[in-house]
Amino acid sequence: MINEKRSHHCGELNQNNAGQEVVLCGWVSKRRDHGGLIFVDLRDRSGIVQIVADPDTAGSSFKIAEDIRNEYVIKVAGKVRMRDEETVNENLATGHIEVVATEIEVLNKAKTPPFYIQDGIDTDENLRLKYRYLDLRRPEMQRNLILRHKVTKLMRDYLDQRDFLEIETPMLTKSTPEGARDYLVPSRVNPGKFYALPQSPQIFKQLLMVAGMERYFQIARCFRDEDLRADRQPEFTQLDMEMSFMEVDEILELMEGLISYIFEGALNIKIKTPFQRLTWDDAMDRYGSDKPDLRFDMPLYNVSEAIKGCSFQVFNSVVENGGQVKCINVKGYANIPRRELDGLVKFVGIYGAKGMAWLQFPEEGGVKSSIAKFFTDENIAALKEAAHVEAGDLLLFVADKPSVVAASLGALRIEMAKRRNLIDPNELAFTWVVDFPMFEYDEEEKRYVAMHHPFTSPRDEDLPLLETDPSKVYAKAYDMVLNGTEIGGGSIRIHRRDVQKRIFAAIGLTDEQAQEKFGFMMNAFEFGAPPHGGLAFGLDRLIMIMAQRDSIRDVIAFPKTQSASCLMTQAPNDVDEKQLRELHIRPSLMVKKEKENK
Ligand code: AMO
Ligand code: AMP
Repeated sequence: MINEKRSHHCGELNQNNAGQEVVLCGWVSKRRDHGGLIFVDLRDRSGIVQIVADPDTAGSSFKIAEDIRNEYVIKVAGKVRMRDEETVNENLATGHIEVVATEIEVLNKAKTPPFYIQDGIDTDENLRLKYRYLDLRRPEMQRNLILRHKVTKLMRDYLDQRDFLEIETPMLTKSTPEGARDYLVPSRVNPGKFYALPQSPQIFKQLLMVAGMERYFQIARCFRDEDLRADRQPEFTQLDMEMSFMEVDEILELMEGLISYIFEGALNIKIKTPFQRLTWDDAMDRYGSDKPDLRFDMPLYNVSEAIKGCSFQVFNSVVENGGQVKCINVKGYANIPRRELDGLVKFVGIYGAKGMAWLQFPEEGGVKSSIAKFFTDENIAALKEAAHVEAGDLLLFVADKPSVVAASLGALRIEMAKRRNLIDPNELAFTWVVDFPMFEYDEEEKRYVAMHHPFTSPRDEDLPLLETDPSKVYAKAYDMVLNGTEIGGGSIRIHRRDVQKRIFAAIGLTDEQAQEKFGFMMNAFEFGAPPHGGLAFGLDRLIMIMAQRDSIRDVIAFPKTQSASCLMTQAPNDVDEKQLRELHIRPSLMVKKEKENK
């Protein structure tokens, strides 16, 4: 047994420790038996160091070195020495030294793990999630969580220096209006009643402003029962903030400062501020998206004018029916293979486009396309001008109603940028998207819904339109977009009861419904609510981008799968009938039957 306490961490040893006696603890990353000598790569959170067991110096511990296997937890006492020139490993931070073991103690054995505990494995993610504690033992995953820790620490520091108070808000609460489905929690002591888990702390943070807290923040868990994707989890974390007596410009500036502070502090990257600002209208028009990736340009061109007088019926009828014809210019790709074009037609179909047309402008001049015959020379000249065509370019067109054109060409723009390698993975392209429409029309529900949330303040000049033309009302709302991901969003809020009432009416809530749902909030507005506004960053998304990962699951310790389950704990799971009865819930017959049929 080694009586001395752990003296160092594996990854911190270097030339300066040569000659020192050290005691290390960690996991066996690799063991190599070179006959007379045994080499062990010992790993702890700080890194890996090579241990050498030699029968002469290790004594009775040499036998232990022979028996240990990968992922055993061991303690090693030994002496640091410089490696021979020829055995230096430049790829390892500790590669100039090794530790000659004098004693080895096995603290715990380990079964053979189901995958290698190392970076860059291509193991099925489900297996990684089932054994998440092993997955998190891999250095790259540890780095992600360390980065996450650093970033939240920097956020706290930045906000603390600016007089923000960190305040917790309830998890068992009432439905909040972020537009997703709620996770409900049955109340045992109030039969038939349910709490909702918060979709965000929105209502509480506004009430904290009414309470005179002036500047609030919280690293808050939010719950949304929605369809999951790579950048969406059912529970996720926001850096949530709210401020009193501040207008849009001040808030955006403060947030830019926060982002610069954390990128500099955590990654030593200097961010240029202020960020550019795009109005929502411009973003949709130019990039077909309210979260445009600005690491490359390739804008959408509206060519509805340029094609006037052509004889291509698809285009003409779309324009006659109030739709639009737009295209993107994929520079230098006139020689795209036909098969790829056919694939792209299918691609835009996913986004509702009924087709995709193209014009190729070969290097040697002229136009190539099955639809070229429908265009006059004037059309072609106008198209070339509108879409900045040079020899060698390729135009891809979609004609449809504006929402379909935006969705399909917006996605195609990104797809083509990826295929043409136009995206620099190291670039950070920030933008604010501002002036969102206040409402969008929900075809299913046949009513307007708030695009952000119904506590967002309309622009003052648009207030008169609330009752007459809600579609023309814009909001004091802003999103921060980074590399095509919405990393944060917020707004100036309504702080007057009369305005709030009009918004509720515009989204089709009767006075009674508004009172029933948000009466407590409307009441609060009558007791001196200050003007206020705020923003919430999606912490997981931000860290994902900072860590250059493609999925937020890689920066969350214990994430859920696409079907919202946890493969490690098997949540959600069945519960006892007794537990259900206590909660006044009867398991539905349908679910029972489904189970019986299994
Ligand atoms: P919003 O709904 O835009 O605003 O959310 C803020 C940010 O949270 C992130 N986000 C998510 N991240 C992971 N998984 C999800 N399912 C998910 N949903 C959202 C996004 C988003 O920008 N209360 C308002 C904020 C405010 O107005 O102050 C709100 O929640 O990065
Ligand atoms: P069609 O006349 O339907 O065979 O279409 C001729 C070409 O126009 C094909 O390449 C179609 O993919 C394309 N096309 C059809 N509908 C649209 C549309 N709405 N927008 C753009 N191109 C379309």
